[in-house]
Order: sequence, then structure tokens, then C-alpha cells
Amino acid sequence: MALPSINPTSTKAWKKLEAHFKTVKSLEMKHLFTQDTERANQMTINWDDFYVDYSKNRITSETMSLLLELAEEVKLKEAIQAQFSGEIINKTEGREVLHTALRAKATDTIIVDGKNVMPEVIAVKQKIETFSNQVITGQLKGYTNKPFTDVVNIGIGGSDLGPAMVVESLQYYKNHLTTHFVSNVDGDHVNEVLKTLNPETTLFVIVSKTFTTQETLSNANTIRTWFLKQAKQEDVAKHFVAVSTNIEKVKDFGIDENNIFPMWNWVGGRFSLWSAVGLTISLSVGYKHFDSLLEGANKMDTHFKTADLDQNIPVVLALLSVWYNNFFKAESEAVIPYTQYLTQFATYLQQGIMESNGKSVDRNGVPVNYQTGTLIWGEPGTNSQHAFFQLIHQGTKLIPADFIGFAQSLYGNHDHQDKLMSNYFAQTEALLNGKTKEDVEAELKSQNASAEKIKELTPFKVFEGNKPTNTIFIKKLTPESLGKLIAMYEHKIFVQGIVWNIYSYDQFGVELGKQLANKILKEFDNSSFANHDASTLNLLELYKKLR
Ligand code: F6P
Repeated sequence: MALPSINPTSTKAWKKLEAHFKTVKSLEMKHLFTQDTERANQMTINWDDFYVDYSKNRITSETMSLLLELAEEVKLKEAIQAQFSGEIINKTEGREVLHTALRAKATDTIIVDGKNVMPEVIAVKQKIETFSNQVITGQLKGYTNKPFTDVVNIGIGGSDLGPAMVVESLQYYKNHLTTHFVSNVDGDHVNEVLKTLNPETTLFVIVSKTFTTQETLSNANTIRTWFLKQAKQEDVAKHFVAVSTNIEKVKDFGIDENNIFPMWNWVGGRFSLWSAVGLTISLSVGYKHFDSLLEGANKMDTHFKTADLDQNIPVVLALLSVWYNNFFKAESEAVIPYTQYLTQFATYLQQGIMESNGKSVDRNGVPVNYQTGTLIWGEPGTNSQHAFFQLIHQGTKLIPADFIGFAQSLYGNHDHQDKLMSNYFAQTEALLNGKTKEDVEAELKSQNASAEKIKELTPFKVFEGNKPTNTIFIKKLTPESLGKLIAMYEHKIFVQGIVWNIYSYDQFGVELGKQLANKILKEFDNSSFANHDASTLNLLELYKKLR
């Protein structure tokens, strides 16, 4: 079955939502809480070790019913079924979308082109496990017979962001290996990393689904040249491994066939950390933890596949995001984790969300007449409170935010954890309730401010409140809960793509800039530049003079 192709604005539910929006847009959430004492309980999904409270949103129970009606009308359930059963839902690239197979149970059967892919998936997982164990225990050694101390992941986009984010997030679970990530084609990036490394004890993991990506191949070549300053050609086999679908190109690079970890075309780059793209994760935290990450994601997959839509965490979060994006016309969303471990989480989500749903043509090939993908951004609390929270609290823009928090800290420092979490809870409460004129005046009065001063300062100190947040409250940051959290956002992306009637799994928008860069690169050595606009031409000439 192809994905249904329904313009959401043509549905009955959309029309009803437009009318309903007019009655809801100025409602104050704090009043909704006083009117309905059951609101918090009713608008919470308690699943496994996740407690997702979406009651601090500018919605009523009718809003949710209408959003769920919209999901039914755009045939979300059929789309979920189509994705999990391996239909070619990435139609523009002619591919299935089966990152969920990478974390499926060994006993599952997942058919691609008439063949069960699970035996291959399991075989690659076993290869990851064996290799990781051999490196971690020192059984595998470098060319001077020393155990490895460092691992460098060379990749970009989905071949970098996922592994980098997970390695950082699971730092607590890390072993003795030091991991590094080289992604940017900026030579200063690779040089900064290389200057800390000893070639005798460093393992390089080249990750590129296509093995044609300029950045990755340039970095891999530079690193190989650096390595060969000390080592011999035959030593490359001991220090370089690759993850790719393009086996021929990897062999051309000189990598031993045994050192190739295959992946599949039915795994999109930005959803690939569950495959051998996650090799650096497994090397860094051990295969057992890597497997728990996959198990967590599989649990979220089962939840997403089987829970009723109104109890389905990714579905509810996706529909709320549609509500703000398309009705309130919010432009961006913030993701604020209250743990320093998730420092790279928003950056990672940016690729998943913006590369997937940054589309303006629908599944019929027609320009959309509504907004699609949201901008996503964020930083851990409490740091972000001292950076951009001012704008969320008192700025002119509506910024729905996900607050992700964990009940338990990993080192068990209760004093810090209580301080951290008091901020976590306080911020969503402050965003909900704001601070009224009366409260500000009373506060200033209690500080003995003069009547004149009170009048002058009050407008600046009022918080209008009514700012929407979701509270995603999890017991503890573990490989398993992280797996669930990442998969939750993956499915949210999918649901939004279905509602917006766009293809979420291609990324043609990244091509044009790449093509032009290749053209310009060749022109640097020509005597003159051809066919550029006047502004670009000036800049190119200046660069040529100054470089
Ligand atoms: O940014 C575009 C993109 O194609 C991503 O989708 C992908 O994750 C990245 O480039 C890297 O591609 P590859 O793994 O083929 O090197």
C-alpha cells in the first residue's frame, strides 16, 4: 500500500479545528486547570518508566478529540502499518523505511523484497558485538601490538550526529576508550583531533552510507596520510574499519573486506544509529549497553504500533506540534533536557526533524498550502535558563517546549538533583501561570518600592504566562530509556509527515548546495570564475586573493 495522500486542510477535522481554534486561542490554561480538577490526570500518559504530562497545553479535551479525528482522517493507523510492514513509503527514493527492523526481536520476521532481513540484521549485530569486545578487552591490537586507547568516528550528518549524541549522553556508562568525532570538512577540525592522537593506539571508524560524501572521504584520506607517516600500508587493515552500503567503494579505499560493517538502503542516514553506524557507541559503552539502547527503542516501537492513538506518546506529541504549527502559527519548538548529558540532543534532533519534514511539496507533487516542519532548538536546563529563557517567558513569540527530566541522577548527588529538578518543575509552572500585574505590584510593595517606582516597573515585570510545555519525566537516564526517548521523537517526526502529507524520508534539499560547491571548488584553480551572480563573484575573487 502506498501512503495515503490527503491534504490535511481538506479534511472535516481540519475545518472543525479552524473553527475550534477561534474559541480556544485566548483561553488561559490556568483557568482550565481550576475548572477541571482532573485535567492533569487526564492529559498524562503513564507508560513504562515514562510519565508524559501534556496538560500544560493550550487545548481542551475537544481539541484533542479533533486532532485525533484528523489523525484518523489522514489514515495515520494505515500509515503506521505500512511503515512497519516494509512498504516502500520512501517513494521518491524507492525505499522501505525500516530502521525499526534494526531493533526488532531476533524472532521477528521482516520482509524486504521477498526476503526476511532479520538474519542479516542479527549477523551484523553479532559482528558489532565480537569486534567491540575484541577492541575493548585489548584482544585486537594496533600495528605495534599495543591495545587501542582511542576511537575516531569519521562521518557527517546521520553518520555522526546520532553516534556523537549517544556517546555523549551515555558518558556515565563509558569504558576506558576515548572517542572522538571528525565530521566537518574544515581541516582545522581534523587537525585538532589528530594532534591528540597516537597512530599506534587509535582505531578509525569511517561511517558513510554512500561512501561518496565529500567531507567524510576528505577526512578519511587526510587521516590515512597522517597514519602512513608512521605506519605502513599493510597496517591500515588493523586500524581502519568502515560502515557502509557501498562495499566496492570501501574496498577501493583500501579497507580489508573483513573490516566492513554493512548497512542497508532501507535505513535512512538520520535514523541509522541503531545499525553498525552505532559501532562507535558499542565501542564506547560496550555492546551490552548498545543492545539495551536498541531494546528501549523496540519497546517504544511496540508502544507506537499498538497503543490507542489517544494514549500513544509520539502521536499525541506530534498532534500537539501540528496544533501549534498550523493553528497558532508557532514557528519553532524548544527541547530542554534537564541533564547535562543530553547537551547534543537538540542538535541531533535538528537533522531528524528538519531534514525529514522541511518540505514544501506534498505527496501528490503539489506545493503545500499550509506550514510544514518546525524549527527545533534547545540546550540543557539550567544553562538555557540563563541564556534564552527570557525570550520564551517575555518575548513576542510562542515557543512550545518539551521539558525532559530524570527523577534520579547518575552519581546520586541529591542536593544537586533537587536543585536541578526544582528548576525543571518551576519553569513549566512559571510558563503556565506567569505573573500578574497584581502579583508584581504586591511584590514591589513588599520590597518598600515607592508608588511611583511600582507604576514605572510593573509593566516590565509582568509575565503573561499561558506558554505551552510538555513534561517528559523519566525515572533515570539509562541506555534503555535513551533508546525509548530517541525512538519517541523518530515516531513523532513520522506522524507529522503523515499529517502534513509530505515525504519525510528523502532529503533532496541538501543537494543543490553540494553541487554548486563542487563546481566552485574546481574554479579555484581556473584563471577566472564563470557564471556567478555579482555578489558571489566578488566574494570568490576576494577569497582567491586572500587565501
Ligand atoms: O545531509 C545529507 C545526508 O545525505 C544525510 O542524510 C546523511 O546522514 C549524510 O548526508 C551523510 O551521508 P553518508 O552517510 O552517505 O556519508
